[in-house]
Amino acid sequence: MAEVTLDLRDLPKDAAYSTLETQIDSVLAGVDDPIAGMATISALVHHAFRHLWTGFYRVVEPGRVLRVGPYQGTLGCLDIQFGRGVCGTAAAKGTTVVVADVAEFPGHITCDSRSQSEIVVPVFDSDRRLIAVFDIDSDRKNAFGPEDQRGLERLMGWFARSC
Ligand code: SME
Repeated sequence: MAEVTLDLRDLPKDAAYSTLETQIDSVLAGVDDPIAGMATISALVHHAFRHLWTGFYRVVEPGRVLRVGPYQGTLGCLDIQFGRGVCGTAAAKGTTVVVADVAEFPGHITCDSRSQSEIVVPVFDSDRRLIAVFDIDSDRKNAFGPEDQRGLERLMGWFARSC
C-alpha cells in the first residue's frame, strides 16, 4: 500500500476504516512509540475524511488532566480536566462519546466555532490503562454514527497491540 495520505470520502465508511486500519498497520509496523502512533493516525484519519479537527488529548495526570497531543487542524486548547467537555467526559467514563450537535452538549469546550458535531474515543495501552482520547470535530451536525464509533475503536486497537 502506498505510504501516502488517502482521500477515502467516496468509500462506504466501513470500507474506509478497513483501508485505514491496513494502512496504519503498514506505516507503523515495528513502532511502539505512542506519540509516533498518535501523529501518524491523526494525519491519516484527518486527510481520509477531511475533518475539521482530528487529534489526541493525552492523560498527563490519571483521573485529572488531559493535555493536547499530536493533531491536525486549527489550534486546540491545551489542558482539559477529566469530566469537562466531550473529551473529559469520554476520559472519565472510559467510553466513546458521540455528540450530534455540540450546542446541545452541556459544557462543550469550543476551540473552533465552526465545530458542529464530534466523536471522542478512549485510547488504552496493552495494560488496559487509559493513555489518551482521540477527538474528531466536524463542521457538520450529526457527522458521526455507529460506523465511525466501530471503525475508530478498531483503529485505536493499534495502541493496545503496540504500546
Ligand atoms: N471539543 C472538545 C475540546 C477539544 S477541541 O474540540 C479540539 C471538548 O469539548 O472536549
